[in-house]
Order: sequence, then C-alpha cells, then structure tokens
Amino acid sequence: MLLDTFGRRAVDLRVSLTDRCNLRCTYCMPEQGLQWLAKPDLLTDEEIVRLVTVAVRDLGVQEVRFTGGEPLLRPGLVGIVQACAALDPRPELSLTTNGIGLARTAAALREAGLDRVNVSLDTLDPDTFHTLTRRHRHQDVLDGLAAAEAAGLTPVKLNAVLMRGVNEDEAPALLAWCLERGYELRFIEQMPLDAQHGWDRSSMITAEEILERLSARFDLTPEPSATRGAAPAERWLVDGGPGRVGVIASVTRPFCRACDRTRLTADGQVRDCLFATGETDLRTALRSGADDAELAARWRTAMWGKKAGAGIDSPEFHQPDRPMSAIGG
Ligand code: 5AD
Ligand code: SF4
Repeated sequence: MLLDTFGRRAVDLRVSLTDRCNLRCTYCMPEQGLQWLAKPDLLTDEEIVRLVTVAVRDLGVQEVRFTGGEPLLRPGLVGIVQACAALDPRPELSLTTNGIGLARTAAALREAGLDRVNVSLDTLDPDTFHTLTRRHRHQDVLDGLAAAEAAGLTPVKLNAVLMRGVNEDEAPALLAWCLERGYELRFIEQMPLDAQHGWDRSSMITAEEILERLSARFDLTPEPSATRGAAPAERWLVDGGPGRVGVIASVTRPFCRACDRTRLTADGQVRDCLFATGETDLRTALRSGADDAELAARWRTAMWGKKAGAGIDSPEFHQPDRPMSAIGG
C-alpha cells in the first residue's frame, strides 16, 4: 500500500499523459505555450500501463484518473484505457479533459472501459471563453459534453475556475445551466500553479465569495461532511436537491488531511502532491531494468515522505517548479 507518516493511504492515482494542450487558459499557461517535454522523455503507452499495473495490483490503487495537459491529445489514449480496464482488480477509470475532441472520442473511450469524465468549462459565453483560453473552441467543448453524456460517461462533471473581472459573475448562470442538464458542477479556487507565476492571493475568488454569489440565486444546504470522505469538493444541495454543487477550496480550506492521491507525470516522475517540490524518478529505474517489486518499493518510499499539507496560504509557501499542465490536474 501507499502509506505516509500521517496515516494517509493513497488509493487515487492521477496519471498525466502529456504536458501539451490545445488551449492556453490564462490561469495555466502563457499565450505562446511552454517548452514541451521531449518525446523520448515521455513514458510510452506500454510504460504507462506497466506503472499503472504496479500501482493497482501491488500498491492498492483503486481509482485511476487520466489528466494532462490535455489527455485527449495522447494518440494512444483509448488503448491505455483499455489496458487499464483489463486489470485485476479493475480500477475506476476517469478522465479530466478540456472537452475538445471528446465529441469524436467519447464513444470509443466508453467502449474501452472509461467510467467518467470531468470537463473543464469556465463560461457559457464564447467571447469570455476566448478571453480565458485564448482559443475559439467554446462550441467544441459543448459538443464534447453532449457526446460524453450520450456515451454514458456519467455523471458528467464540470470544473470551473472563476477569474476576477472575467467570469466572476457567471457562477449562478453556470450552475443553472448544469442543473438543467444534470451535470455536476464544481468550482475550483484558482491555485498558484500557472507557469507565469501570475497568481495573486488578493485577487483570487475565494470559496466564500463563490458561495455568496450562488446564494444570491439559490438556496444552498451543506451536505453532511461525513459523505465528503477524501473528495476535495465540499458539496451543497441546491434548492433542497437533488441538484448539487461542489466547491474545491484548495487555498482557503485545504483538504490535505484526507488526501488519498498519488501522481505520475508524463515523464515518469511520482509526485506525492500537486505542490510537492520533489519527485521520484520511476522512468530511469524502469528503463534500466527494475522489476515490478523494485518499482513498487520506490513508489512506496516516495509516498512515505509526503508532507502534512501544501500550505498554500502560509508565508513560507513556494510554488512548485513545474506548472499544473506538466503535473496533471
Ligand atoms: N487553479 C485552479 N484550477 C486550475 N486548473 C488548471 N489550472 C488551475 C489553477 N491554477 C483546473 C483546470 C481543470 C482542472 C484539472 O484544474 O481548469 O478543470
Ligand atoms: Fe489546457 Fe487545462 Fe491548462 Fe487550460 S488549464 S491550458 S485546458 S491544461
């Protein structure tokens, strides 16, 4: 198992399949993109499946989420999903995507064994979408969402980040839109993970402010915290239910104490936290002939060193060297 010294057990693995993306969200990347990882540094499809196999079979991982960058840009995605769905015990399989290309691939992904998707959508307005992502792809995301639902990748979940002066007014409209369609919406506080280091605590839209904005239009009642488990989102029933909304207050109300995650980057590094400053290199070990037992041992050691918390709100906080797009959301 993947245990740490604070008694936590990691059962949820996030695998980044690429650091590339077809959007340029302002809270993530600069306009010109980033220096992408070189192809030889990326794990191959076989290497990814091998490491996921070790995690699931030998280390107690129960849920595997594929992320990026944008994971739909990985040519071998369907095959990777298929191989992971064939593992015993079979893990839960999900995908965090910006939705572009999902219209084409949702059915094949479902067929391969994908269980669910989280689609990032911050706005209902195509112009605001362009301001936030610097690309005219709003309709592609809407088409992707519809395809995910049609393919049975449900419940469809949406992630939204609110940015001051851009889409901060849209919280209630986004929620109404999701409730109408039966999508589960979660707002995420903007985190200091952008490559440009432009994050500013004082302009960040806090969970408290999000709830205030939502409460102007909806009646929110907290779901009992017992149902939260390791899930980072605090959830509210909307107008008595059954509709719900979640808020992930990574900065103002961090959930590190219940964290059950371990991460693998596209270049084969284990990270014990989004905000970790160190990594454990499994790629080199794997390519120099380490057997599964040794890979598992390295992974266990990596997680044992996990810190109590990320401490984003503390004055000693240092943003990790890698941006979110190279770590995996
Ligand atoms: N802060 C909060 N959320 C972010 N995401 C990407 N960058 C940030 C950030 N700096 C979101 C994406 C996606 C999820 C993986 O994380 O919008 O929904
Ligand atoms: Fe791409 Fe996601 Fe970063 Fe936006 S937040 S640029 S969709 S990786």
